[in-house]
Amino acid sequence: MEKIQILYIEGDGIGPYIMKSAMKVWNSAMDFIYKGKKKIIWKEIYAGKKAIEKFGTPLPEETIKLLKEFKIGIKGPLETQVGSGYRSLNVALRQELDLYACIRPVKYIKGINSPVKNPEKIDIIIFRENTEDVYCGIEWEENSEESNELIRILNKKFGTNLNKASIGIKPISEYKTKRLMRKAIEYAIKKNRKKITIVHKGNIMKYTEGNFRKWCYEVFNGFNNQINHLEINDIIADNMFQQLLLNPSNFDILITTNLNGDYLSDAASAQIGGVGLVPGANIGDKIALFEPTHGTAPGIKNPEMANPTSLILSGVMMFEYIGFNEVANLIKNSIEKTILDGYATIDISPKALSTNEYVDKIIENF
Ligand code: NAI
Repeated sequence: MEKIQILYIEGDGIGPYIMKSAMKVWNSAMDFIYKGKKKIIWKEIYAGKKAIEKFGTPLPEETIKLLKEFKIGIKGPLETQVGSGYRSLNVALRQELDLYACIRPVKYIKGINSPVKNPEKIDIIIFRENTEDVYCGIEWEENSEESNELIRILNKKFGTNLNKASIGIKPISEYKTKRLMRKAIEYAIKKNRKKITIVHKGNIMKYTEGNFRKWCYEVFNGFNNQINHLEINDIIADNMFQQLLLNPSNFDILITTNLNGDYLSDAASAQIGGVGLVPGANIGDKIALFEPTHGTAPGIKNPEMANPTSLILSGVMMFEYIGFNEVANLIKNSIEKTILDGYATIDISPKALSTNEYVDKIIENF
């Protein structure tokens, strides 16, 4: 029997509930396809609340060490409090492991009640830079020693006219932009996608967002003839939000900076029925960590009713990544059939199945 070891982090909030259900689907699909000849050995690692309880810290060294060693993991959502407490664990994981490409495919699943007229026109892949931008955590509070000193230097040396303020720094580099663009192009070649659109705010932030645009074009123009079939263009981020609603079929792969990508993936998810449906992968050169697009969903009163689709489909991305395409296809097709038959959780179906009832239907449909 072939065994593959995969790490998982349960996550906070709805995390443990959707992880348990998703695992049931992944394991059943493995058994269905490989009849016991291949097996996943799941190894739990810790981050978030469970890690604080066990190790007294939300992101133990051991977690990072094991991810570097095993190279593949899947995680549930992790809570980050606004304005205080620990720095975002998600951002820390992405930066520590250099998971620079956040890939989020947003595609409509037939049968879902979407808020737009033609949700089936959306079939996009968002490539979001995952390690730079205002997400770096280079930020100081108004009136802190650091922000006061920085403002003094900026005013004195660079002619700015700043008063007391909180300060955040937004680095965007050629190296990190270009490696993301190369990943997006490689993905486009592999998956036979037709177009890449660079989403940026270069009209206002000329040297960060503007150069992001320029560097993406440079990579594209320097690529070999493998991309003759591929079109490229760019669009300013605010217009992107409008165009995604008005002309969704004009878009295929979108490549963008960290913050734009964050906003854009939630907005695009809404157009196909919500963040409970859209999977994600954080991929570097060596390590991949898969996770749903959504957060811990504190608003869901009964976590046993949460939609596990985003996490299950993140697992589908993971199966594709390790080459278990039959398992990936089985799960994807079965989710589509289950939802088309009207069986789903309350956020997308009036049948309002519990998380567990829904995954049992998915498995029944294999
Ligand atoms: P959220 O994604 O948790 O919730 C946004 C909305 O989507 C809510 O209405 C929620 O009920 C709904 N929703 C989310 N997941 C759902 C699911 N599986 N099924 C049905 N409906 C679902 O975002 P929010 O409220 O902004 O953040 C809550 C916490 O999650 C925060 O601490 C935030 O930092 C964290 N977060 C973590 C992420 C991660 O671990 N990658 C990503 C986004 C947020």
